[in-house]
Formats: sequence, structure tokens, C-alpha cells
Amino acid sequence: MPIETTPTFVAEPAADAQFVAVPFGRDLAPPVELPLPVDALLAHYEAKGDPGEVVEVPVAHGTGVRRVLLYGVGDGSAAGLRRAGASVVRKVKGGATLWIRVPETADAGAAALAEGALLASYTFRIGAGRTAPKIVFVGGDEEALRRGERVARATALARDLINTPSSIKSPAWLADQAREVAASAGLGFREDTALDEFGGIRAVGQGSVNPPRLVELTYAPEGATRHVVLVGKGITFDTGGLSLKPEEGMKTMKTDMAGGATVIAVMGALAAAGVPVRVTGLVACAENAFSGSAQRPGDVITQYGGRTVEVLNTDAEGRLVLADALAYADAELAPDIVIDIATLTGAAKVALGLRLGALYATDEPLAAALLEAGEATGDRLWRMPLIDDYRADLDSDIADLANVDRRMSGSAGSVAAALFLREFTGGRPWAHLDVAGPARATADDGEITKGGTGFGVRLLLRYLASLG
Ligand code: BES
Ligand code: MN
Ligand code: ZN
Repeated sequence: MPIETTPTFVAEPAADAQFVAVPFGRDLAPPVELPLPVDALLAHYEAKGDPGEVVEVPVAHGTGVRRVLLYGVGDGSAAGLRRAGASVVRKVKGGATLWIRVPETADAGAAALAEGALLASYTFRIGAGRTAPKIVFVGGDEEALRRGERVARATALARDLINTPSSIKSPAWLADQAREVAASAGLGFREDTALDEFGGIRAVGQGSVNPPRLVELTYAPEGATRHVVLVGKGITFDTGGLSLKPEEGMKTMKTDMAGGATVIAVMGALAAAGVPVRVTGLVACAENAFSGSAQRPGDVITQYGGRTVEVLNTDAEGRLVLADALAYADAELAPDIVIDIATLTGAAKVALGLRLGALYATDEPLAAALLEAGEATGDRLWRMPLIDDYRADLDSDIADLANVDRRMSGSAGSVAAALFLREFTGGRPWAHLDVAGPARATADDGEITKGGTGFGVRLLLRYLASLG
């Protein structure tokens, strides 16, 4: 279902090719025969060669007509070529074969072109499918194109997990998906169902007929010295629990395991990407259901490591499952760096909208590297402040911490959630990505497809590959 096409790589388009995409740019004349001089043609269509521009020209070919899609590549940057690849794919409807001539470009550009083209061809459909074009790359460095394909496939896996309805997607189902990814990528796999010490994951999951899980995936390349732990929020559906969400806020909540989906997809792609460090992926899976066995506002739970939390709002459940996983990572895994990714707060979405993720970090080099990886991959982040003054808002009258501001002031909700998580990181270099906005798209746009976006997969793969 995800990216249906298996791209192939050739030197020249077939003689009977119907759709041939050809690059053009400021100093780049398309290497095809056209009915008019290229300048006249582009002037007619008011095209300048910017990424995203596609001019469709019918060209006589043999006894029939071929369609040449002139696609702008701008300055040939990776971002431009990602957009160009996506735009070309979006011009071809149905299951036709699209031949994309790769511009003479750096390897990173070719990888980005393939990534954009393949991600734009992503579809998710239960029932009769919509067919996407088959893609053939003409020319270009095959290794680079394949690198782009791998990144696109990892992102598409995350999209599939996110787009799967919660009637299918129980915590056990999500753990099984992780198990399959681990088997095919040669990762270690472990799941905890008893969760004896994980009071947060148990409390959030106790209201559901589908019991919770903690999944642990391990990647340990030979010679690795540094160890990074990734933690993903895996709430397979978030009703809010007894602090019930209104219908409007609930209907997209199958997306609430997007952070976990990203962790699973990244873990599955580490070996092929040649990531040189040890990586452990933790996914805290639970369904935040509304039922007679659900936790109540005012309950006190014991997180991994012994800290107690007064649950004043059962809809602030993500931080409860993440706190257990962060405390476990600190106590048992001795990580050099911890990064969590979660659809954590509506407040992050209000602050930054649907395109940017909120970044919180306790380590400057880590923050800088993640911001750079975000710019390079298109999974853009914006740094947010961990404001110490607000920490006292999370004091509880009867427990070590409250899960929300007990005065219910409701301000700076994304900051408050980050401050809550920081309590469980043991002072290790830590970054938190609140992706409540960009995890889900309301419309197709470039390489982004409506629904789950897989935000963070490209970012984290690039960041991890950059570590020595
Ligand atoms: N999963 C939600 C956050 C969310 C909201 C994700 C919108 C994607 C889109 C999270 O569990 C939640 O409900 N957070 C509450 C926290 C509040 C009760 C302090 C929120 O943001 O309203
Ligand atoms: Mn919630
Ligand atoms: Zn949630």
C-alpha cells in the first residue's frame, strides 16, 4: 500500500515512453526536442525554472504523442530537488509510467529528488486503491537515488503505522509491527507486557481492553562507542480518558502514536544508512481509553524509579508513559544522548502550526545538530525554552509532581510538558520533540501527503548518521 512503485534505474527512456520528465533551470536547457525554442516555451508558460514548476509539453513522437514534463530545479539544492521530484509525480495521474531524467547534480540532490518523488507517490487506502505512477529514473547516480529511496520507504512505513485505524492498531499490534521491523533489519527486540515498574504506562493503559506494552529495539554496530536512546510516544488512541476529549479533538487521535512510529521506522533504517553509533528505541504503547477501569483525575501513580505523580488530568497521558521510558533509559541504558518524540500537546500545534516541530533541549551541541538536520531534511524544528520559573507550577500537594499545572492556568502547555519530562532524564543530554502539529497534514503538499506525515524520520536518520 505505501509506496507501491519499485523504482528502476536506466540510462535512456524507452522508445514508447509516454511521460518523460526533464529538468530545466536558469542555465539548463532541456535535452529534448521541443516544438518551440525552450525560451519561447517557458516565456509562454511564465515559467522561470523554480523548483515546483512543471510545464507539460506535448511532443510528436513516432506516430503518436509523448508528454514532456519540464520541471524546474532552481539552483539544484537538495530542498529544491525534493520539491521538484514531488511536483513531477503529482502531475501524473493513474498507474502510468513516469520517466524522470535526473539532472546533473550532487549526490545529495539526486537522493532528494528520489525521496521527494517517492514520498509524493505514497498512498494509504483501505479498500479500492488509488494507483500511483510507476517511476523510472533516467541517468543519475544510482547509489544516491537508492539512498533517497531508502529514506522515503522508512518515512512511508511511519505513515502506514500512523494511518492505520485504531480498531486495528492496538498496543500489541504496534509491538508486533516493531517485531517485524526488527526481524527484517537485524535489530534486537524485546517487549514488556507485565510492566511491573512502569506505573505510568500501566495507569494510562488500564482503561483499555487492549493492554499496554513497552517495546525495546536495539541496534549495536561493531565498534560503536556512543549510545543514543530514542523514546517514542505510542498512544494508539487518545480519547483523553475520563478527562474526555470533545469529538472535534478526538477524531484524529489515531495519530497519537506518531512519535513511536517514527522511532520504529528510524530503527529499521539504521543499518542500511550506516549509522555508526549504538541506538536503542523505546516505544511506550498504550490506549488511553474511557471506561470504568480507567484511571481517575486525582489518582496518584508511581513512575519508573519511584517518583509519584498526581494525575490531575488524564488527557495529559503522553508525559506519563514517556516519563517511565525516560527514567528507565537513564537508570538501565546509560545513554550518552536521549531524544524523545511525541505528539504531546495541542499547545505546540497552536504555537508553531502544522509545519514545524517544537524542540526543547538541555544540551547546546545536540540542539544545534538537530536544528541543522531539520533544515537539511525539511523536518523543520523551532527551539523552545525550558523556563525554570514555570517548573513550580507542576508541584503537587500530595505527590512529587502533578501531571498538569494544578492551578489549571493552561498557559505554555508545551513548555510545561517538557519541564515535566525533564524531571525524568537524570540530567543527561536530552532533546524533546513535540510534533503534535507536523505529525499530521490536512492536505497533500509537495512530498507531504494528507494524514500521517512521518515527521522526524528523515530528521533523526540524518542526525544519527552524522554522529561519529
Ligand atoms: N495527544 C494530545 C496532544 C495533541 C493535541 C496531539 C492535538 C495532536 C493534536 C495529548 O495527549 C493531550 O491531550 N494533551 C493535552 C494536555 C493538557 C491536558 C495539559 C492538550 O494538549 O490539550
Ligand atoms: Mn491526551
Ligand atoms: Zn495524547
